[in-house]
Amino acid sequence: MSDPKERVAQLRHLLNEHNYHYYVENDPQISDREFDALMHELEALELEHPGLDDPLSPTHRVGSDLSKGFEQVEHIYPMLSLANTYSPAEVDQWLERTRTALMGEEPAVVGELKFDGTGISLIYEHGRLVRAVTRGDGTRGDVVTDNVKTIRSIPLELRGEGWPDFFEIRGEIVMPWSAFERLNEERAFNEEPLFANPRNAAAGTLKLQNPAEVARRGLDAYLYYLLGDNLPFDTHYENMQAARSWGFRVSDRMTRLYSSAEVEAYITRMDRERKELPVATDGLVFKVDSLRQQLNLGFTAKSPRWAIAYKFAAERACTRLLSVSFDVGRMGTITPVANLEPVLLSGTVVKRASMHNEDIMRQLDVHEGDMLYVEKGGEIIPKIVDVDRSARQPGALPVAFVSHCPACGTPLVRVEGEASWVCPNKWGCVPQITGRVEHYVGRRMMNIDGIGEETAATLFASGLVGNIADLYDLTVDSLMTLDGIARKGAERIVQGVQASKQVPFERVVYALSIPYVGETTAKKVARTAGNIDRLMAMTETELTGIEDVGPRIARSIVDYFAAPVNRSIVERLRAAGVRMAVPERDPAEVSDVLGGKSFVISGVFERHSRDDYKALIESNGGRNVGSISKKTDYVLAGANMGPAKLEKAQKLGIPVIGEDEFLAMIGQ
Ligand code: IVH
Repeated sequence: MSDPKERVAQLRHLLNEHNYHYYVENDPQISDREFDALMHELEALELEHPGLDDPLSPTHRVGSDLSKGFEQVEHIYPMLSLANTYSPAEVDQWLERTRTALMGEEPAVVGELKFDGTGISLIYEHGRLVRAVTRGDGTRGDVVTDNVKTIRSIPLELRGEGWPDFFEIRGEIVMPWSAFERLNEERAFNEEPLFANPRNAAAGTLKLQNPAEVARRGLDAYLYYLLGDNLPFDTHYENMQAARSWGFRVSDRMTRLYSSAEVEAYITRMDRERKELPVATDGLVFKVDSLRQQLNLGFTAKSPRWAIAYKFAAERACTRLLSVSFDVGRMGTITPVANLEPVLLSGTVVKRASMHNEDIMRQLDVHEGDMLYVEKGGEIIPKIVDVDRSARQPGALPVAFVSHCPACGTPLVRVEGEASWVCPNKWGCVPQITGRVEHYVGRRMMNIDGIGEETAATLFASGLVGNIADLYDLTVDSLMTLDGIARKGAERIVQGVQASKQVPFERVVYALSIPYVGETTAKKVARTAGNIDRLMAMTETELTGIEDVGPRIARSIVDYFAAPVNRSIVERLRAAGVRMAVPERDPAEVSDVLGGKSFVISGVFERHSRDDYKALIESNGGRNVGSISKKTDYVLAGANMGPAKLEKAQKLGIPVIGEDEFLAMIGQ
């Protein structure tokens, strides 16, 4: 494109789109490197043509991650970004510029890892954590203190001595590889969208409105920047060592470097060592060590002159596309998968790579026999990031997305508002049927041993198991008629099926494979409904009153129980003895002191969890309602209650009570 004006407009549009995918959807569509390249091109054009500048250009902001539902505060010191480069030579040029700016003084430099997570600012007063704030738009951030408190490596009270009465420390909230893999396995199992990398998983988790779920996901934090008026030392390095002695996790890879040669050697060493680390890193950061020199060097509008980030190139490989297959999930979701000529990528052989959905496949514009770039940046499942168009064979045809289910031939339907195609033939499509049986028997569901992918397929093919209720008709004899199942295996399955009758109702609800109902939702829905009859009778409006249940989930639950086939399965499960209710409470524990009064719960509590308070309200004769209205009797408020809710309660004159007051009401 020759017209700079058009190109500038195009780049701004592209960057805005990618910013949205990155910050709002937590689902980046291009690599950081590609994003940076577009940004640099735009910066260069704007510099060259000042007339085209626009205060709203993406070059004028450091992307925002502000979200609704959190209190926002202004940062004491703005949270800037770092200038970055992909070449060691440019790091050396930065060092040279720094020397010149310092009138030839040789700066000691601190080399450290660039952690690939989400930035956080922690405020400590008198040795106690008072606030944790996300980066937000750099000027204002979200207050996420309750979520951050669940991260065990962040000290709530400092140890040691010598900390200033008031200071800020910044670092990165990360999700270690092990936690990331566990979370994605769980999500894959539930056919929930996977997190593309640990960075998105960390950012997404930090913004959850449910600190218990945050705690469960296993975040961690590394600290790398101390700010305040009375810091103990006048070098960055010594301050960070002091911070370590106060109880913060400071990376032991942080090193002082005294020359260009040492910087270069550090880059080589770290590019090797980072592969062994428990967390994702996407580069290194070099900082001038002396705070006095830092002060002299100062800041540009966007970043400090005293620091630079060196980014590692994501590892990618180029290989030939052999074919595209379309996987069918248990909910019928179709995923396009590229079958590749095997290629070695960061130590493992890659043969298959996901192309996620039709939109992404179309963007890639894959043709038969194409040479594809596979990347494994932060992902467990490698993905196709680009196509080498120059290597395309003449006459190669574009690969089309299937219009019919590859397993059963049924025309696919596209779910409104979503990128995925689904096979609607729930009861005739084999991978869906066997997938649901596999889910049902899974460890976190009914925990029935001895049935894996292969056995589920054999059970279906033999006509013994066409749905989950059929499992309860299996006998050792009927199982032993099947190929590959001996007496021992058959007994194990039958025993597992028997034992599954003791599994709590919450897990039964999860095991049913109701679309969009994951483990946490199943638990909440089951506890609120109390039993299956009540659950089957609940309307969409009632369901959306349950915490974390949105309209999509509510509709899905109603649709599920509206289908006669599902109702008949539920009846057969009930007849077989599967638990269809949460246990009755001991009458001694039940009271009617709350006499039908309605409660809205808001905020975070110390003495019991939110769910416990909900249960206490019910077992004492009260009712839980989702939102404040004229009819609400009380608001039970914990820490961090949303200001909008508080205002509404006050306006309507509804008493707002704390947890102590509530516990006193029920005589505890
Ligand atoms: S220093 C003013 N050090 O990278 C400089 N940042 O692109 C403050 N990051 O927003 C940042 N590891 O979220 C610094 N060792 C490290 C880092 C690091 C990761 C992140 C941080 C920052 C972004 C800048």
